[in-house]
Amino acid sequence: MAQYQAVRGVKDIFPEELAKWKYVEGVIHKLASFSGFQEIRIPIFEYTELFQRGIGRTTDIVGKEMFSFRSDPKGRSITLRPEMTAGVMRAVLQKNLLSSAPVHKFYYISELFRKERPQAGRQRQFSQFGAELLGVSSTVAVAEVISLMMQVFESLGINGLKLRVNSLGDMDDRCRYREALKAYFVPFYGIFDDSLRERCKSNPLRILDSKNLSIQEVITEAPKLYDYLSASSIQDFEEVLYYLTELGITYQIDHRLVRGLDYYCHTAFEVTSAELGAQDAIGGGGRYDGLAKEIGSSFDVPAVGFAVGMERLLITMEKQRLFATLNSKNTLVYVVLQQPDLECYAMQVAWQLRKAGITTEIDLAKRSVKAQMREANRIKSSYALFIGKTEVMTGLYSLKNLITSEQKTFSLEALLDILQSPIH
Ligand code: HAM
Repeated sequence: MAQYQAVRGVKDIFPEELAKWKYVEGVIHKLASFSGFQEIRIPIFEYTELFQRGIGRTTDIVGKEMFSFRSDPKGRSITLRPEMTAGVMRAVLQKNLLSSAPVHKFYYISELFRKERPQAGRQRQFSQFGAELLGVSSTVAVAEVISLMMQVFESLGINGLKLRVNSLGDMDDRCRYREALKAYFVPFYGIFDDSLRERCKSNPLRILDSKNLSIQEVITEAPKLYDYLSASSIQDFEEVLYYLTELGITYQIDHRLVRGLDYYCHTAFEVTSAELGAQDAIGGGGRYDGLAKEIGSSFDVPAVGFAVGMERLLITMEKQRLFATLNSKNTLVYVVLQQPDLECYAMQVAWQLRKAGITTEIDLAKRSVKAQMREANRIKSSYALFIGKTEVMTGLYSLKNLITSEQKTFSLEALLDILQSPIH
C-alpha cells in the first residue's frame, strides 16, 4: 500500500519551525492586549449561508474556494471558515454583546480553509492573525486597527512593506459606480469570457480584481470609484489619511484597490511584501458597516478590522533573516547514564530538576555513554550530568559544562541552586 502523504495545500509544522510561530504569536498577543484587544475563538465551521451572505456570492472565495459539506443528507450546508470576520460578527450578534457595551475589540490567531491552487504562500489550510473592532463608525477606529497591524510588523522588525489605502465609499456611492462600470464594460463583451460577462451583470466591481491578463488594459482604463464618492465619503477618507500621517504611518493611495470580499465600505487597505512573489498580499482589511445587517441583524453594527496571513508573515521574516537569533530549543541539562540499570534513579534526578524548572533531557534508548554525549551535543545541551554507581552511593553528581568542558561535582541542592540561577 502506498504511504500516505498530507493532503495537497496543507503543511506540517515541526518544532524548529513552531518556535518561530510561537515567537511571532507572543508578540501579537502582547501588542494586541496593550491596545485593548481581547482574544476570541469561534468555531471552525459555520452554516454556509453566513459566508454567502457575508462575503458575497459573487466573490471568488464563495464562488470557488469554500470547503462545504452536509453533516447529514438533509442537513443544512456547512462550510469550513474561509475567513474570520463574518464568524466574529455572527458570534457577537448571537450573544447580543452590543447591548452590554457599545464597543468590542477582538483579535484572533486562527486557522482558515480556502480551496485555492496551492503555491508558495498560498495554502488550502492557512492561518491569519487579525483584529475586529465592532460598534463604532469612526475614522479613529480605522486608524486604531491599522496602527495595531503596523505596530506588529514594526515590532517583528519587518522592513519594506507597502500599505495601500482606498475609499470604497458608502452604499449609494458604490451603486452609482456599479452602474458606471457596467456601462463602461459593455463594449468589451466581445473579449470577455462567460464568467466575466456574468460578473459584469452581477457584480462588476469583482472584475477589477480579476487576474486575467488579457483584460488588464480594460481594467486600467475603467472609471475610478473615487470619482463617484460623495463629499462626506471623501471627507471621511481624508480624516483617515490625516490620522495615518499624524501617527507616522507611511501609505500610498491606490484608487484601484477593491479587495476580494463584498462587505467593505469606506476605507479599505492592503499591505504587500516584496519578499512574497506572486502572492504578495501579506494582510488587508477595512470597514464593514453593512455586514451585520447583511447577515440578519435588525440594527447596524459599524465595524472595521484586518487580517494578516501568518504563513506569509513568516516567509517575509525568514527572507529578512529575522529569526537568525531565535534559539528554538534550549535543553539545559542532558542526564548521561553510565550504566543502563541506573535508568530509574536517573529518571528521579531528572524529575527533581524538571520540577525546579530546569529543562532536562534523558537517554531513553540505552545508548552508550559516547552516543549519549553525541546526542547531548546534537541537541545543544549546555550541561551533561553524569549518573553512575559513585553518584548513587555518594549523592554527589558530576556536571560538565559542554561549552567550556569544565567539570565539577555537586550535591543535588547545590546543583539546583546553580542551574536555577540566571547566569550559569
Ligand atoms: P483576505 O485579504 O482575504 O482578508 O485575507 C487576509 C490575508 O490572509 C491575505 O492578505 C493573505 O496574507 C492571507 N491569505 C489569504 N488566503 C490565503 C491562502 N490561501 N494561503 C495563505 N494565506 C492566505 C480577509 O480574510 C478579511 N477577513 C480581513 C478582514 C478582517 N477584513 C476586516 N476584518
